[in-house]
Amino acid sequence: MIDEEAKKELIRRACGARGRAHAPYSNYRVGAALLTASGEIFDGVNVENASYPLTCCAERVAIYSAIAADQQEFIAIAVATDSGGSPCGACRQVIREFSKELPVILCNSSQEVVKETTIAVLLPDSFGPEELLE
Ligand code: THU
Repeated sequence: MIDEEAKKELIRRACGARGRAHAPYSNYRVGAALLTASGEIFDGVNVENASYPLTCCAERVAIYSAIAADQQEFIAIAVATDSGGSPCGACRQVIREFSKELPVILCNSSQEVVKETTIAVLLPDSFGPEELLE
């Protein structure tokens, strides 16, 4: 797990990002902040669409932003919602694509940690790239 100061900064970034969510339909705002091995933090927000299924979750926006910036090694992700909601199944699978053990910090709108877990716990017996690439 990352040190307390880095964790605080990640939570601060996730909560800040949350304010930029585009969630006019659900009003369920989500912010994510992903720390990469380079020390950079990539933000994500949920981006909803009038054509509902096109919505993209905050976690995936953060991960795809990091990938687009050529960062594939991840240290931890913080996810901020109103009350510390957990990543959906699709986001768990996308996180798993890039990490087997990524720490996942769930926090609420008061920047309090509601749960600290890992992708291994959130997605047990997972299917990953090793099945296809080895
Ligand atoms: N949402 C996320 O951003 N991340 C999740 O892991 C769960 C759901 C978003 C999608 C949609 O904009 C809203 O929350 C309600 O489902």
